[in-house]
Amino acid sequence: MMHLTATAGKSILIGENCLFANVIAETTDHHTVFDLGTKQPLNSGANIIIGDRVWCARDVILMKGTILGSDVVVAARSMVNKRFGNKVLIAGCPASVIKENIAWTERAEATFMPEKFGVL
Ligand SMILES: CC(C)(COP(=O)(O)OP(=O)(O)OC[C@H]1O[C@@H](n2cnc3c(N)ncnc32)[C@H](O)[C@@H]1OP(=O)(O)O)[C@@H](O)C(=O)NCCC(=O)NCCS
Repeated sequence: MMHLTATAGKSILIGENCLFANVIAETTDHHTVFDLGTKQPLNSGANIIIGDRVWCARDVILMKGTILGSDVVVAARSMVNKRFGNKVLIAGCPASVIKENIAWTERAEATFMPEKFGVL
């Protein structure tokens, strides 16, 4: 299941062949935090952009400004709030890169089949 909320003129763009397990993505925080010194808002909204073949595991939160490349895995219960490149596994709150040069399959495969990843 995916809960998408794109407000404040911002967008959520999602690539092809992605898999989401109970994910929340919101382009704003819904409430504004102000810096009392500058009187300026701190938490303005931003677009969320997701590449192709991104798997967001269970209970992931994609915050404003999230930008994910292609072939990315987001570990369960992670909170993402910045930009990551291609072929990375990210995890944590806030998410950071745990493994690089990865690919994932939709089914629980026991062995690597290169034809599935275009690396023949
Ligand atoms: C992302 C995932 C596939 C990684 O599995 P893995 O490659 O076996 O990773 P490991 O268990 O070896 O963990 C590697 C490191 O990442 C950390 N890590 C793994 N998942 C994490 C998570 N969700 N949040 C924070 N850290 C995490 C581990 O603690 C470990 O850290 P360490 O090296 O400091 O000990 C797995 O953790 C996961 O989140 N699976 C999702 C399951 C799910 O939601 N399925 C729903 C079906 S769609």
